Amino acid sequence: MRKILAFIAVCIPFTTVADEIQDRKQSSAAIIKEFAGALQNELKRAMAEGGPLQAIEVCNQLAPGIAAQHSKKTGWRIARTALKVRNTENAPDAWETTVLNDFEARKAKGEAVENLAHAEIVEQDGQRVFRFMKAIPTAEVCLKCHGAELAEPVKTKLDAYYPADQARGFNVGDIRGAFTISQPM
Ligand code: HEC
Repeated sequence: MRKILAFIAVCIPFTTVADEIQDRKQSSAAIIKEFAGALQNELKRAMAEGGPLQAIEVCNQLAPGIAAQHSKKTGWRIARTALKVRNTENAPDAWETTVLNDFEARKAKGEAVENLAHAEIVEQDGQRVFRFMKAIPTAEVCLKCHGAELAEPVKTKLDAYYPADQARGFNVGDIRGAFTISQPM
């Protein structure tokens, strides 16, 4: 009996932490779906209305705003990042760099990019923070602005907006980057 009680005492805290991580993973995945959907809608609309030139404008002006909107709604930090970024504001921190490198390694071992995600509770400035990342695959439509060969005048416009642009040379199926979420516990 004592053994069973000790077992329960040990297990209960773990189950609740596991449950909490599970809950936070689910809510993160849900908000990412919303955020990705909002970005995709704007991109699609702009591409249909004015082609890639107008869509660059939309990505430049609306993407940070849409991220901020979703961050404000939840009180979490919601953003996009990548090993090679276009906007240096999206550059990864040390933890994100490690996770992105790990995503590349998992992809190399055969995992589908759509399924690459990682959740962890980390200590930051003396505070516990739940962090979550989900990989973003490169699709055909992305190549117009992130591919190896950019058509004119797309190239000139991207050069003008992003002189330090690294987010080029991607192929379909590559990991373009990842959604990243931080939630203070
Ligand atoms: C019309 C051009 C265009 C298309 C098409 C496009 N992007 Fe981008 N992308 C941009 C621009 C411009 C930025 C920089 C936005 C900013 O300033 O925050 C960007 C930034 C990003 C970022 C944030 C990280 C970084 O590099 O700064 C990710 C991730 C991303 N794009 C993924 C994609 C994916 C996936 C697709 C295809 C579904 C795609 N993009 C299609 C122009 C485009």
